[in-house]
Amino acid sequence: MILEGKTIIVTGGASGIGRATCVLAAREGASVAIADINREMAEETARLVEVQGQAALVIEMDTSKKADAQRMVEETVGTFGTIDGIVCSAIKLVPGKLEELPEEDWDMVMDIGLKGYFLCAQAAGRVMLEKGSGSIVFVSSIGGVQAYNGAGAYSVCKAGAIMLGQLIGVEWGGRGVRGNTVCPGQVRTPMTEAMFKDPEIAAGRAAVVPMGRVGEPEEIAEANIFLLSDRASYINADFMQVDGGQAESKMMHTPGRNWGGKKMNYSTSTVPNITNKQKEDG
Ligand SMILES: NC(=O)c1ccc[n+]([C@@H]2O[C@H](COP(=O)([O-])OP(=O)(O)OC[C@H]3O[C@@H](n4cnc5c(N)ncnc54)[C@H](O)[C@@H]3O)[C@@H](O)[C@H]2O)c1
Repeated sequence: MILEGKTIIVTGGASGIGRATCVLAAREGASVAIADINREMAEETARLVEVQGQAALVIEMDTSKKADAQRMVEETVGTFGTIDGIVCSAIKLVPGKLEELPEEDWDMVMDIGLKGYFLCAQAAGRVMLEKGSGSIVFVSSIGGVQAYNGAGAYSVCKAGAIMLGQLIGVEWGGRGVRGNTVCPGQVRTPMTEAMFKDPEIAAGRAAVVPMGRVGEPEEIAEANIFLLSDRASYINADFMQVDGGQAESKMMHTPGRNWGGKKMNYSTSTVPNITNKQKEDG
């Protein structure tokens, strides 16, 4: 168990990738503080943590509020005695086209998803800096390295999270606290469920991933847990794309290339995707 005896906080731990991270952290031996604005769902996560035989603490809080971030740390230290790592995953995605995006929608995404990452990492980081060890993991997105059109402030927020993770690694790495970021591709969670419910969108989303499928929350959690653990002891100020290769696959989807005078059939020979499978199945 790679997190045996450790105490881990997960913001946004009530749902999706955050919940999967809580459960895997527990399976790997950690006590888990579940920090989320949604108490009811956080309590459901707590039960899943306890099923793994580990202690869970639910902290109802808003990541965008400094006092809440501070209270999150105090309650965690009060209950478990210390903090060994934090995964910041909380977000509220408010889509919108830039020309119409209301200021309050911009602020909400940035306050929860970027300022919130800073406030929570700062509060937890102070405890870890004092003892000279710890790991901070931000959940960003491949939308943080590529402009995600129509998603309002999301890409800017996520790009900021990558830089904040790197900055933490650079400023705190020498004092034993590593900072890293995980950039998931497409994952089916309550946040994206509305899109995946449409079979055409679901198939189309899988088709743009070289592996031919979207990711599971548990597959993102694996990266979070690894970066939290001492097994990643020399990984710092870095970011990892966990996306089935999607972010690096643009050339695969560029039509009209000729090789040796022949046109490649991109849709059937190079991209194993759900659409192809559906074709095979007739
Ligand atoms: N699902 C995807 O396809 C995908 C892709 C790339 C990146 N991500 C990133 O992964 C992370 C988790 O996303 P998810 O899909 O699991 O989303 P989700 O909606 O399932 O979970 C988000 C959680 O954040 C909580 N939250 C919202 N506002 C909060 C606040 N102010 N304070 C505290 N908690 C708050 C919600 O209650 C919820 O439990 C996010 O940072 C997201 O940007 C997701």
